[in-house]
Amino acid sequence: MAAHKQPINLLRGWPAPSLLPTSLIRSATQAALSSPSIAQDALLYGPDPGYEPARVAIAAWLTEFYTPGKRIPAERLCITGGASQNLGNVLSVFTDSKITRKIWIAAPAYFLAFRIFEDAGFGGRMKGVPEGDDGVDLEVLEREMTRCEEEWQKREDKGRGSQTFQSRRGWGKVYKHVIYCVPSFANPSSRTMGMECRRGLVKLARKFDALVVADDVYDFLQWPADTEKSAQKGVLNSAHLPRLVDVDRSLAGGAERDGADGFGNTCSNGSFSKIAGPGIRCGWVEGTNRFAFGVSQAGTTRSGGAPSQLTSTYVTHLVETGQLRDNIQNVLCPAYASRYASMIRAINAHLLPLGFSLPQSDRDVAGGYFIWLGLPTGLMAVDLARVCKTEEDVIVAAGEMFEVPGDQELTFPAHIRLCFAWEDVELLSEGVQRMGKVAAKLLSETQIGNGDYVMVEGRGSADMDAFK
Ligand SMILES: Cc1ncc(COP(=O)(O)O)c(C=O)c1O
Repeated sequence: MAAHKQPINLLRGWPAPSLLPTSLIRSATQAALSSPSIAQDALLYGPDPGYEPARVAIAAWLTEFYTPGKRIPAERLCITGGASQNLGNVLSVFTDSKITRKIWIAAPAYFLAFRIFEDAGFGGRMKGVPEGDDGVDLEVLEREMTRCEEEWQKREDKGRGSQTFQSRRGWGKVYKHVIYCVPSFANPSSRTMGMECRRGLVKLARKFDALVVADDVYDFLQWPADTEKSAQKGVLNSAHLPRLVDVDRSLAGGAERDGADGFGNTCSNGSFSKIAGPGIRCGWVEGTNRFAFGVSQAGTTRSGGAPSQLTSTYVTHLVETGQLRDNIQNVLCPAYASRYASMIRAINAHLLPLGFSLPQSDRDVAGGYFIWLGLPTGLMAVDLARVCKTEEDVIVAAGEMFEVPGDQELTFPAHIRLCFAWEDVELLSEGVQRMGKVAAKLLSETQIGNGDYVMVEGRGSADMDAFK
């Protein structure tokens, strides 16, 4: 047993406590609440689209990072309670389970999104779309969406009505499909969707009247993938690829082109959780003006005012003064780049020689919080996770966590996800080294010879619920 070893949690996808910007938040809080007029705004109900100075400041900051030279107007933004809260809001305004056919999810997928789709009435109607090294497999997605449309049509021909109360609401619309993905530095796969795939996905969404919800929550955390360079210079000051919402804004006349309904087919779900602290519970969503207004008209916002009204006043101070940007560039990116480099070095030393594999190992830019590893033949992720926990006190996430519920076709029994954000840097290589020890042992126990393997007995995932 591992009782005497220091526990190492490589599952938890939270920011490192040592990197939380506590003093910046403290001074932002004081600055905001010292002004009587800001304090009054902060403590009353917020306007539906959110605190106006926050929208203006965030729009300017996003322009600088994503689209220098093409201003993002504040009207394209709505303040949210973070990416999770907003996903629920978007589904409540823009879907109807009687009309919206399916939720298509790039898989492996961020597992905590599943319940949000279930809550919106889509239990049993989620389907995984395989991710390759360039992004989602557009061929598979188009084929499946076509098939889904044909089946839906047949059922409609048999007499099911398509009009519901929601579809007649002027501020929203009901999309026929939703596609959910994390285009850059994905959770869990750490992959980044290429430019061609981004364009193809927007075209496909337009063709099928789909809304792509892109969780762009890791975009700001990026550095050169070459670990030597990232150690010297962990900062890239602007986004290395446009978001899907930027592609939709400009491709072939843009989202507000003649003949289009003006809602667009993509939205970018942004959050301060990974770049400041998840307790802030504040984020933004960007889409067309019409889309952003629609989000702001969700019933919970109409009644309760903008989410995160108080914290959005602090965030405004951090963004307006450039403190958030500077902290990301000068503190977070270098720190995460160095954690990433340390983990990659340990993987190279202890895991790749055993037959583990890394996706997108030839990319130029790395980022986010995670590394996704393919396991050597014969090693199952649930076995590795279980024995790492019991024998080495190392917690890792087995691939099955990231399978879309009910989708038996797209499974990840031979992958694991490692997070390099939560634990301190010196524990990352130690954790990987301990994993390597377990993997080598399991491989030697299961190998019969001639490349044949037998399963380890007593399989079962580690208790993952405790670590979300
Ligand atoms: C892809 C993805 N989306 C959303 C979230 C949650 O974001 P928020 O804290 O803004 O709700 C996470 C957190 O792990 C995530 O990885």
